[in-house]
Amino acid sequence: MRIVALGASGNAGREVAVLLGPVLTASDDLVLAGRDPAKLARTAGAVTSPATVTTARVDVTDLDAVRDLVAGANLVVVTVSRPDLVADLARIVLDAGADWFDTMLSTPGKLAALRALAGEIVGKRRCFVTDGGFHPGLPAVLVRWAAGRLDEVIEADVVAAMRMDWRADTLADSTVAEMFDEFADFDLVAWVDGRPRRLRWRECPTVDFGPPIGRKACVPMPLAEMDALPRRYPGLRRCGFYIGGFGPAMDYLVLPVLMAMAKVQALRPAAIRLARWSFRRLASYPPPHRLVVRLDATGSRDGHPATASISVQGEDGYLLTAAPAVACLRGMLDGSVRRPGLHLQAHLVDPEPFLRDLTAFGLEVAGDVTSGV
Ligand SMILES: NC(=O)c1ccc[n+]([C@@H]2O[C@H](COP(=O)([O-])OP(=O)(O)OC[C@H]3O[C@@H](n4cnc5c(N)ncnc54)[C@H](OP(=O)(O)O)[C@@H]3O)[C@@H](O)[C@H]2O)c1
Repeated sequence: MRIVALGASGNAGREVAVLLGPVLTASDDLVLAGRDPAKLARTAGAVTSPATVTTARVDVTDLDAVRDLVAGANLVVVTVSRPDLVADLARIVLDAGADWFDTMLSTPGKLAALRALAGEIVGKRRCFVTDGGFHPGLPAVLVRWAAGRLDEVIEADVVAAMRMDWRADTLADSTVAEMFDEFADFDLVAWVDGRPRRLRWRECPTVDFGPPIGRKACVPMPLAEMDALPRRYPGLRRCGFYIGGFGPAMDYLVLPVLMAMAKVQALRPAAIRLARWSFRRLASYPPPHRLVVRLDATGSRDGHPATASISVQGEDGYLLTAAPAVACLRGMLDGSVRRPGLHLQAHLVDPEPFLRDLTAFGLEVAGDVTSGV
């Protein structure tokens, strides 16, 4: 198989390539593509694989160059932070007859661009997977795991928090800009009392994530995979993904300023500089680092009230991003999860083997089910 990794020079792209390399076979070709040859060489140097690994220089704004690069590909893995180009890139990948996998954030623009191609994707029997990674990508898998252990799941809130180094100096401007757009989409809406509702600030949960993260105020973050759950499990009364803040100075002082600045196009470059500075100075922490994604679900089993809890944890944000992505990619490549159509990663994968893969990739996964009388 020929696999083209667009964005292999970035943080997520590098870690995806590192985990994907050993999964491939000697008959595979892995092309690490991006703008910066030095960064691509660094990624190539970190990849161990029986496959043939090469690098290719491409700027994804040059659509003809992308078309040439993906010709003959079976799978294109997109970790480039350019949601504005998804319509063009996905069209090129579809016309090339390849499958698609991306880790970009779960924004309405990206999803609309892919949904516009959904009929054609099925018609051409391609498998397009979006919202890969851990947020998006993991929260709804945890709920599906719990739903597989309970007869009925009634409440299923997923919480996440991180104490990490954002490596702000290494992020592309487009990655920082994508975060702005995501913050702008925050509307405090979650599924509560059997319907979507905007929460008041005081209704947002404060969660104890244990050391070294501690207690964090969390706000609902919109994710397509969570929005899709009440249709899948009609008994759900409560279901949301809540994420912990960066830190008081960042959350209450800088973010409102950034959001206001980001709305004015002329201020975007200054906003990106301020964001980089604040992610470095106000949102990044020295070791020990930790990222936690945790589900606490209630429901019933064998006619009795029951609970199901599961957490996925790690020390490296990019391992937490890449491990779910590669667990899904492995299933696409071996055919075990590959189905024609447009899919959200969290709804395509089979939770049990997927979570076993996360453990194999070095994450800590712990689940527990209790049934009362
Ligand atoms: N789902 C999840 O859990 C999760 C977690 C983390 C990140 N993400 C998403 O994954 C994506 C990558 O994140 P990241 O943290 O790895 O960001 P990053 O380190 O800034 O990487 C961004 C990548 O995009 C590339 N890029 C940007 N514009 C390009 C262009 N015009 N042509 C070619 N390449 C271009 C960059 O290339 P250069 O190296 O040349 O700048 C870099 O390889 C982002 O969309 C981010 O939001 C998702």
